[in-house]
Amino acid sequence: MKVAKIHELPKNFGKTVIVCSHEIALFKLANGNIRALANRCPHKGGVLAEGIVSGEQVFCPMHDWKINMCDGNVQAPDFGCVKTFPVEVENNEV
Ligand code: FES
Repeated sequence: MKVAKIHELPKNFGKTVIVCSHEIALFKLANGNIRALANRCPHKGGVLAEGIVSGEQVFCPMHDWKINMCDGNVQAPDFGCVKTFPVEVENNEV
């Protein structure tokens, strides 16, 4: 399923997309990699697409939990996991 054109994604900002009724936070990182994860923080449901990106991490906009976008794990001392999704890029489309 095509959800975005790669050139329309600003680097290090999230974009909310809906895929099969799931709300996904889509990110294009500074290195050009694309990451996709469930758009809700496991703490209190912060919208991760509005978070601050640093490398492969996104900081939840609500209480600053740090989430690894590769595996979805929350960095200690906080805990939890966000579902991540595989991404394919073909003909400049995600
Ligand atoms: S809701 Fe994300 S850190 Fe609290």
